[in-house]
Amino acid sequence: MADKVVLAYSGGLDTSVAIRWINENYHMDVVTLTADLGGEKRDMPSIREKAVNVGAVKALVVDAKELFVRHFVFPALRADALYEGQYPLATALGRPLIAKLLVDAAAEEGASAVAHGCTGKGNDQVRFDVTVCALAPHLKIIAPAREWGMTREETIAYAQRHGIPVPVTAESPYSIDENLWGRSIECGVLEDPWAEPPEEVFSWTSSPKDAPDKPCYVEIGFERGIPISLDGREMDGVALIQELNQVAGEHGVGRIDHVENRLIGIKSREIYEAPAATTLLVAHKALEAMTLTKDQLRFKEKVASEYADLMYNGLWFTALHRDIAAYVESTQRHVTGTVRVKLLKGNASVVGRKSPKSLYSFRLATYDKGDEFDQSASLGFIHIWGLPVKIQAQIQGVEQTDDPLGEDKK
Ligand code: ARG
Repeated sequence: MADKVVLAYSGGLDTSVAIRWINENYHMDVVTLTADLGGEKRDMPSIREKAVNVGAVKALVVDAKELFVRHFVFPALRADALYEGQYPLATALGRPLIAKLLVDAAAEEGASAVAHGCTGKGNDQVRFDVTVCALAPHLKIIAPAREWGMTREETIAYAQRHGIPVPVTAESPYSIDENLWGRSIECGVLEDPWAEPPEEVFSWTSSPKDAPDKPCYVEIGFERGIPISLDGREMDGVALIQELNQVAGEHGVGRIDHVENRLIGIKSREIYEAPAATTLLVAHKALEAMTLTKDQLRFKEKVASEYADLMYNGLWFTALHRDIAAYVESTQRHVTGTVRVKLLKGNASVVGRKSPKSLYSFRLATYDKGDEFDQSASLGFIHIWGLPVKIQAQIQGVEQTDDPLGEDKK
């Protein structure tokens, strides 16, 4: 019996060619695995059929939406993870899960290797390979598209030679990856960072200029940092994200245009559509602003950027992530409440928030009747706070006041 490999299979041209190419070059039996993380609607029965027709010995399909949301998306939301302050990490969060499913299937099927369709230029190969190293260091990793050295035309010719169906419609010039947390688009004209993305690259969001003139308000209920309801209706995470993608997408929310730093050292121009992620991230941050102290917020912000780098760089299954995840989890114990977000013409703005654990005190904040803040106490506070400044001025002289803008040194 030939050795077995489990291949992450999208049903597209490259991974179909990969089935045949592995048969030919590694003489291994290929089991395909197609994971549904809630991206575009795909016809799973025909994907399975295609895999088997092309030469797979078995075609597995896994609905991983719930796992994805519970174990990857919500932890990232609780961390406020945005890579380089912009990218909600949809693709980056999906890869370690798919890699984990490959590893589990390999154990089940008695396979000695796993395979994926990533090229040698992106982050995704790193995320797959490092996850496999972490979870099953004995497995061999095969990445046909990184190894075969075929151009686009050569891949198509290879497919035609082997009776692998080639899409008849002109193929999209874009490379697209989708899951519940967002849609990533690259290549084609987008490789010119000066070129405005053509409307055709977007499919989850209306153009803000065509979006309704009337705002839509959504109320998102959180419990310990996890969204649990929409407009008062309790919902499971998958349904909540799906509905928010729909509603916020209609209002043009969640378009992101980012020149980002890939792990492998190159800059690339990426377009993202992430209506639900954008809305949930602003809402979650607004609730944290109300329920965490200033010091907690300052520290958590630093952790968020570390966390995002870790996710982006393929280090999900690592000891450091485990430690940071425990910290993030602890920060969320009082992040419970409701946030009201206004969706209008491409913007998601927080317009209201309330929480039983709110640290906001009207009695302390108000300038009107009912003010309980003891203004006379500020005097003593400022006396001590400003003391070192005053002493320095007295002893070392007044600095910077006669030339505050450094004009004399010009
Ligand atoms: N640049 C993003 C990331 O590294 C998206 C990658 C999208 N992948 C793709 N095949 N289009 O996470």
